[in-house]
Amino acid sequence: MTGGSATTQASKIGVVGAGYVGLTTAACLAHLGHQVVCADVDTERVDRLRRGEIPIVEEGLAEIVAATLANGTLTFEVGAARAAVDADVVFLCVPTPQGPDGGADLRYIEGAAAEIADALRPGALVVNKSTVPVGSTRAVEDVLHRPDVAVVSNPEFLREGTAVGDFLHPDRVVIGADDRAAGERLADVYAPLNASVLITDPASAETIKYAANGFLAMKVSFVNAIAAMCEAVGANVDDVVEGIGSDQRIGRSFLKPGPGWGGSCFPKDSKALVKLAADYGYDFTMMKGVIDVNDEQRRRMVGKVRTALGAGPGGGLRGALVAVLGLTFKAGTDDLRDSPSLTMVRSLLASGATVRAFDPTVGDRADGAKAVTLEGIELVGDPFRAARGARVLVIATEWPEFAKLDLAAIASTMADDAVIVDTRNLLDPAAVRAAGLGYDGVGRP
Ligand code: NAD
Ligand code: UGA
Repeated sequence: MTGGSATTQASKIGVVGAGYVGLTTAACLAHLGHQVVCADVDTERVDRLRRGEIPIVEEGLAEIVAATLANGTLTFEVGAARAAVDADVVFLCVPTPQGPDGGADLRYIEGAAAEIADALRPGALVVNKSTVPVGSTRAVEDVLHRPDVAVVSNPEFLREGTAVGDFLHPDRVVIGADDRAAGERLADVYAPLNASVLITDPASAETIKYAANGFLAMKVSFVNAIAAMCEAVGANVDDVVEGIGSDQRIGRSFLKPGPGWGGSCFPKDSKALVKLAADYGYDFTMMKGVIDVNDEQRRRMVGKVRTALGAGPGGGLRGALVAVLGLTFKAGTDDLRDSPSLTMVRSLLASGATVRAFDPTVGDRADGAKAVTLEGIELVGDPFRAARGARVLVIATEWPEFAKLDLAAIASTMADDAVIVDTRNLLDPAAVRAAGLGYDGVGRP
């Protein structure tokens, strides 16, 4: 691992894909002084981006896009080839969703590579930033069929909600390259970050990405399992986490109990890791356990709501009104992909319950109102309207504003003997009970 050097030349960069990773990469590289063309297949998205409208919730991104559009270092185009045609370095930032066998589906990567193959300049560098299994660097080389073009792996570790900060201040930059010079060429692009750079081979870089997400998912599953154990033995998970997290070898991060991990990456990447291992003859039983604990945690949250409603296992919930605060998979994002909140809501709806929900980033219409329904959920514009008449209120996403709710006002609008199911341990149990509401958190009395 080497420290970064601040001396670099501005490069001509192409970025394929204008989603969470592509748009952040394009905007931040332009911010660092490179000349960037970012392309997407979605014409409407490109039109909006050209007007400076940001299609995702990401702190600080709008400002950087506005500034780099204005000084001409960032432009948006339709079609991958337009990003490649004049670039020294082309980043592939397209989706790698879960395929039918649990492994990563490489059709977007291979499609994007095919689109840029003829457009690439002689000697260009292609960078695979999407999360892909071992062997994908070679697969991109095969599709490109351009011996003059080097392909390197450069996994991305940014989190949604803090993508800009994570990109500009990374813990490390990982580059996987068979050709050391190609790896150093990419390291040069990142030089203004002054980050630690690890240049390794492609298989190791690709493994690092899955191992990092797998390890973080493991930490969360571990603490969720400990929370379940705390409920069984009468311990308090807050104190247990404080007690173990202060051991520097363990650390405090990713030890927050919750409704189970979700989002666009942990669920698909954990399964892809199991599949990748199996493909090479290793039965990754530990990772399978991490996934099982997560599925179980999601079911446990539904069980808590059913218990709060007084329903037996498997019994119908017709007539029950449940308020849900938070639909996104975590706070700070508008991303609903594989959200534990939605898993829980779908299960409640399937049992006949009525669900009324509020999320600060979901369902806004152009006229300022909320969309009326989302998958059978009634969406409303504030937490109090969600709570009105409900028997149970679920805190499903840890939006900071939910921690400041006027609990007495919430209690006065809910049904008699109402209960808050706090899947994020966001509220103070004593304050909830003092407001006259029942309380059920995760692993705490
Ligand atoms: P996303 O769905 O937000 O964005 C992908 C974009 O690529 C879309 O706008 C899509 O229209 C576009 N696209 C697809 N095919 C294209 C093509 N041929 N040409 C041009 N554009 C094309 O996806 P994302 O969340 O940015 O994830 C991209 C990759 O990065 C995935 O492999 C993911 O696992 C990985 N990753 C994501 C995150 C994250 O926080 N979201 C973090 C690290 C790594
Ligand atoms: C995650 C990783 O943190 C990033 O490093 C990685 O780049 C990214 O996946 C990716 O590959 O896409 P992200 O999906 O944005 O980032 O979300 P996280 O902040 O990691 O949270 C993942 C899930 O775990 C969320 O559902 C969150 O609520 C849950 N979580 C996280 C907990 O329940 N407890 C915790 O202590 C931490």
